[in-house]
Amino acid sequence: MTDSFDVIIIGSGPGGYVCAIRAAQLGLRVACVEKRATLGGTCLNIGCIPSKALLQSSENFHAAAESFKDHGIILDSIKLDLARMQARKSEVVGANVKGVEFLFKKNKVTWLKGTGHIDAPGAVSVDGTSYATKNIIIATGSESIPLPGIDIDEKTIVTSTGALEFAEVPKHLAIIGGGVIGLELGSVWHRLGARVTVIEFLDRIIPGTDDEIAKNFQRILAKQGLVFKLGHKVTKADRTEAGVTLTIEPAKGGAAETMDVDAVLVSVGRRPYTEGLGLETMGVARDNRGFIPVDPHYATNISGIYAIGDAIPGPMLAHKAEDEGVAVAELLAGQAGHVNYDAIPSVIYTWPEVATVGASEEQLKKAGTAYTIGKFPFMANGRARAMGDTDGFVKILADKRTDRVLGAHIIGPDAGTLIAEIVTAMEFGASAEDIGRICHAHPTLSEAVKEAALAVEGRALHI
Ligand code: NAI
Repeated sequence: MTDSFDVIIIGSGPGGYVCAIRAAQLGLRVACVEKRATLGGTCLNIGCIPSKALLQSSENFHAAAESFKDHGIILDSIKLDLARMQARKSEVVGANVKGVEFLFKKNKVTWLKGTGHIDAPGAVSVDGTSYATKNIIIATGSESIPLPGIDIDEKTIVTSTGALEFAEVPKHLAIIGGGVIGLELGSVWHRLGARVTVIEFLDRIIPGTDDEIAKNFQRILAKQGLVFKLGHKVTKADRTEAGVTLTIEPAKGGAAETMDVDAVLVSVGRRPYTEGLGLETMGVARDNRGFIPVDPHYATNISGIYAIGDAIPGPMLAHKAEDEGVAVAELLAGQAGHVNYDAIPSVIYTWPEVATVGASEEQLKKAGTAYTIGKFPFMANGRARAMGDTDGFVKILADKRTDRVLGAHIIGPDAGTLIAEIVTAMEFGASAEDIGRICHAHPTLSEAVKEAALAVEGRALHI
């Protein structure tokens, strides 16, 4: 044994690195194991941050090409410098991952570089060197789910990792899976000039999201030019000289067809990544999908071993992992860490954005909860009109008896920022009337939230 710690966290994604910082703030001796050359995990290196950089750049390109003229800005020609766009993305990633390294130094968190293995409760080895620790936290995240018969090479047939690295805009990009990754990255490449076809197994996109939001979202994306092939599955992908020939079959049976494309993004979900940790030997339980079940204190079935983030059940979201990291650090330090799973927002960073929190209408119906709905379209919001971004609406669901906000769903400009107000309101147990009576600055998009809250009682002012 070379060194000993109060906590060793395996994995430095948003769950792991935030947990490390919080534990260090609370006076614990902390180490974080990371095998990647940089800290930050999937989110900072090959997920949220690079995709948001490309989403922003492609949005700018698209605006310059399509909507600047509406504002009286005439460009004689515009040209895409994809190499520069990709280099900028790498700079953004570089700044973020270095930021985490700086925070580790500032908080005296030890970065154990290499691959972590749990040798026993209280013992972790990193590339052969053993460390003693009172507690172990598994924060190893998730990986893309592969599809049988489709070989990923990260060049032509890619996961999100390869789809962030295309050196040329594919002429025709097929996307398997109409979920968050498919629609965000599909939007990026479509804005940069690709023809994009989304092949989705179900008869709807973004399953789990409020139906009305999903339908409107699909309509808006289709208007932008994305093509949807719902109720279909891809059974084969054959590489050709020109690209890839996909074999596509109706999900409910029927004749197969083929489609020639230049590149394929496989985005059919993610699964926990816990390979090589030694969980089998240690007897750490996993469910049939590979998730590690934990108790309300994030403890696994083995004493002294905890788990957070994508490796445990729940939404696979960076901010959910972060909050769990904070909670488990506080619990280990003797405090009362807690995450309210009823108020975790979820955002799709397309344009318009989709942001949701709490229950969908379908969930309320299923639970037999009586509810009222307030809706307000961005078309009736002065700021949205000034921006030229009038697609979408705010929908607030409140308890019919108490008026307490149970859920909110926004499709529209900056929905991801707007949802924060409703999350805060829900954390404080607010009613729709509470939101409706709060003064909102004019002219802002946030007035659409206030108006939707007023609409719950049928008293919106601007519609
Ligand atoms: P997802 O679960 O969001 O969507 C996968 C889609 O693929 C579903 O619509 C599913 O019905 C479909 N599908 C499954 N098998 C299929 C098949 N054989 N053929 C056709 N369609 C099929 O998964 P995604 O987009 O890969 O994202 C993975 C995770 O990463 C999600 O849990 C998501 O929450 C998270 N993520 C979150 C982001 C955000 O918060 N903005 C951004 C990117 C990822």
